Amino acid sequence: MRLSPFLLERWFAKYEFEVKYNLCASCASSTNTAELLHLAGENAANEYLHLDLDYTQNPGNPRLRKEISRLYQNQQPEDIQVTIGASEAIYLLMNCLVQPGDNIVVQYPIYQSLFEVASSIGAEVRCWHLDENFNLDLDKLPQLIDEQTKMVVVNYPHSPTGAMISIEQQQRLIQIIEKNDCYLISDEVYAGIVYNPTHELPRAADLSSLAVSIGDLTKPWGLGGLRVGWLASKQPELLEKCSAMRDYTTMCNAAPAEYLSSIAVQYSEEILPQKIELARQNIKTWQQFCEQHPGVFSWIPPKGGFTAFPKIELDVNVDNFCRKLAEEYSVLLMPGSTFGSDQHIRIGFGNNSTQFEEGLELFSKFINSYRKI
Ligand SMILES: Cc1ncc(COP(=O)(O)O)c(C=O)c1O
Repeated sequence: MRLSPFLLERWFAKYEFEVKYNLCASCASSTNTAELLHLAGENAANEYLHLDLDYTQNPGNPRLRKEISRLYQNQQPEDIQVTIGASEAIYLLMNCLVQPGDNIVVQYPIYQSLFEVASSIGAEVRCWHLDENFNLDLDKLPQLIDEQTKMVVVNYPHSPTGAMISIEQQQRLIQIIEKNDCYLISDEVYAGIVYNPTHELPRAADLSSLAVSIGDLTKPWGLGGLRVGWLASKQPELLEKCSAMRDYTTMCNAAPAEYLSSIAVQYSEEILPQKIELARQNIKTWQQFCEQHPGVFSWIPPKGGFTAFPKIELDVNVDNFCRKLAEEYSVLLMPGSTFGSDQHIRIGFGNNSTQFEEGLELFSKFINSYRKI
């Protein structure tokens, strides 16, 4: 099995902890341990300090599975497999479901592991391209599916574009996968992050037993360092297979991470609205930035998630542009090439507003100097 370099993660590996201003992260500003323990009340800090640090259950801590299942309409705790981030959920699912000679149909662009793992197993990857306004054409989907199609893979709210599909489109998607008897793998790591409540989608695992939902604590709650994700499915045999494969990957999560994650999910209503508000503010700031720099970007505001995918209207090599900005101005953007486009950049809105504004000030200087060259 050969995995090609994960372009986005390699870019982060090189710059994320070197730069002062990370303007392209796809998660909410981070939440710290004290905030979580405070939300959970008086006994929590003491309980946390006395947690047993032994192995934990492979499918996940029972309290955490229960809290996660409450995010869904139709899932029970036993329908949830906890994983190390959504990354492990994707890895397990692909390895359990995909065989050499299968094909998968994947929304494109998309987070690389959502097709790369299947490709490394020997599956053909069929890209279902977004149009230039980031819409998916459902009429094209049936033409991409055949008898060897194991799954259709989508991600909504979508990274990098912030696009959504409508509830009607989602229903049609479910009808198509059911008619063709293939899985729908629905990466929902940004679920809950929408800027207009009418854009909120039902979670796919609630709609069909052929649909698997992937979630995590990284994006909405800003808890990437806990490395907690999950998959939700109404197919016990699939969950059992993933759990058995997990014996070879990570076996279980860390007890402190599961403890803090349970609190985070339980107190979602206290945590998430602030994160959305902050991102909404940063989206406005970015809108003003674009108005102050006419002719540099054209962009579509996100309907959900923490990112957008502006198109650069300058005649530049996007990799060199982003590299120079990181190395000379300590401001990080994600070059679109990590998503197969040499005309876009990914920008992230989850950051705290002061950081975001200071980063944009430097970016402004960079653009002005770039235009003079
Ligand atoms: C769409 C999508 N899925 C999955 C992941 C993996 O996230 P994690 O492993 O932190 O849960 C990411 C991370 O950026 C992502 O953007």
